[in-house]
Amino acid sequence: MKVLVTGGAGFIGANFVRQTVAERPDAHVTVLDKVTYAGNPASIAGLERVDLVVGDVADAEVTDALVAASDVVVHFAAESHNDNSLRDPSPFVRTNLVGTFTLLEAVRKHGVRYHHISTDEVYGDLELDDPAKFTEATPYNPSSPYSSTKAGSDLLVRAWVRSFGVAATISNCSNNYGPYQHIEKFIPRQITNLIDGVKPKLYGAGANVRDWIHVRDHNTAVWTIIEKGRMGETYLIGADGEKNNREVVELVLELMGHDPHDYEHVADRPGHDLRYAIDNTRLREELGWEPQFPDFRAGLADTIAWYRANEAWWRPQKAAVEAKYAAQGQ
Ligand code: NAD
Ligand code: DAU
Repeated sequence: MKVLVTGGAGFIGANFVRQTVAERPDAHVTVLDKVTYAGNPASIAGLERVDLVVGDVADAEVTDALVAASDVVVHFAAESHNDNSLRDPSPFVRTNLVGTFTLLEAVRKHGVRYHHISTDEVYGDLELDDPAKFTEATPYNPSSPYSSTKAGSDLLVRAWVRSFGVAATISNCSNNYGPYQHIEKFIPRQITNLIDGVKPKLYGAGANVRDWIHVRDHNTAVWTIIEKGRMGETYLIGADGEKNNREVVELVLELMGHDPHDYEHVADRPGHDLRYAIDNTRLREELGWEPQFPDFRAGLADTIAWYRANEAWWRPQKAAVEAKYAAQGQ
């Protein structure tokens, strides 16, 4: 099977590529990745049956040729960080919207199966005490330039399914954690701060809730949907991992041998979504998927060990990331 993985040098995409070649001897993977600040070829270096093409998903010439040579396209590539989208939305519009449009045109032309990776943020946020979680029927209500461009990309996919009969599925997943995540993101930022002797930084009061899932569970769900999902359907991916940011920081501190309360409150994110929570009933009951790594404490301990053991992977980015946050009081 020839699998085209866009964004395969990023966090979730690289884990997907690694899992795919380890578990599927029949798979050959081509990664299309622009290698932005968020992409790192080292994350997929040395893997057998993997080729990296450095290019832009919004470049129709590159995309068309790679799609034509594939059996399935898994589209991870995106500008993915909310804080960056508040500073400069323009790459989000180009990559997330124009990039998805460009891929959809190629899969339409060549009749190739397409899976679209999206986020639970397209649904906006929930109150802390709301008993409801997001379902596939929740109306779209995105808050940030990031989540609105992801929402727009989902709607493009739905239109290409309905209007042109493209063979596509969509998944909307909650917050991932695990190895190879860029250190601008919450959990790796705090781990690498502590390695550097710097206190973790909590936006606002830290009451915001995220529904954490191990990246490996996200990726097994993606393969389940590719193989068993109904065409044109959307599946929500989550593993019942709701925690507020304060709890997460306290656990990172504890697991790294520090006083759990030794963190700092910093400026909040403008428009900060309060809570995300996924109802994964459709994925479990219709497709039989179950998470294999539901123990957040154990997964976090492994993730901390990975960042400790792989300083060469993240160190070159650390000073620039922290300078950017410091400039905005974070
Ligand atoms: P990431 O920022 O770590 O990686 C994105 C990758 O896309 C990078 O390798 C980057 O170089 C590449 N890229 C960016 N623009 C490109 C372009 N124009 N052409 C080709 N490649 C380009 O992101 P991630 O956290 O791995 O997220 C991957 C996908 O999963 C995204 O679509 C994101 O919206 C979605 N998602 C992420 C999470 C999460 O918690 N991280 C949760 C749900 C959904
Ligand atoms: O829900 C899925 C989304 O999860 C994905 O679509 C996004 O691509 C991914 O980046 C993530 O978005 P968040 O904005 O939730 O993730 P982030 O890691 O940026 O922040 C997680 C929470 O932690 C959020 O409430 C903001 C807070 N935070 C973040 C940073 C970087 C802090 O308190 N301190 C920090 O230093």
